[in-house]
Amino acid sequence: MDCKALLLVIFILAISTGISHCGIVLGLGKCPTVTAQSTLDKAQYLGVWYEYQRFPAIFEAGLDCTTATYGEDGDDISVTNAGTVRINLFGTKVVLNKNSVDGTATIPDSSKPAELQVSFGGFDMGNNSPNYFIQATDYTNYAVVFSCSEFLFVNIQFAWILTRDPGVAPTNLATLESNLSDAGVDVSKFMVIDQSGCPGRD
Ligand SMILES: *[C@@H]1O[C@H](CO)[C@@H](O)[C@H](O)[C@H]1NC(C)=O
Repeated sequence: MDCKALLLVIFILAISTGISHCGIVLGLGKCPTVTAQSTLDKAQYLGVWYEYQRFPAIFEAGLDCTTATYGEDGDDISVTNAGTVRINLFGTKVVLNKNSVDGTATIPDSSKPAELQVSFGGFDMGNNSPNYFIQATDYTNYAVVFSCSEFLFVNIQFAWILTRDPGVAPTNLATLESNLSDAGVDVSKFMVIDQSGCPGRD
């Protein structure tokens, strides 16, 4: 590698390290190849999912008690993402704000039913292509979701491990992470989400 190329790589690494602290996971080059599972039982996938852990994402910065609720919507799936902004005040979490956003998920290619395209209010990160890959789910305990977009020579990654049981790690978490890792995803970027003491929940 010549000197200019080396400097460029160092520069990009420095920027991406900086940016990752500001709530985004950047990779160099192409997106990791995370393959979606080959089937999807839509009806079984619907309902409420709780974020057990996620990659830092600007659009979710500071949110906990986060849920994704999927519903029947003709050929599509309705999406409601919700969460709270809380601060720790003398050891008690105080809700500053409740946040909720509605969207729609479609399955652009029925031969790849676990590759969804999720959009919110016309805003589509995936440029009309799948942006929500269900890598694995057993429907009743966990779902592993991955999303990645490429820009020039970097990629921006989002990953979620969702559970049906709020705040409880899936028993096979190690396998879920090592499978993501095998696909080239840096699972050290995961942050566990606080799902305790959430408003409106027992
Ligand atoms: C993990 O990967 C292995 C090998 O590809 C696969 O057989 C297994 O089903 C995966 N496990 C889960 C829970 O996704």
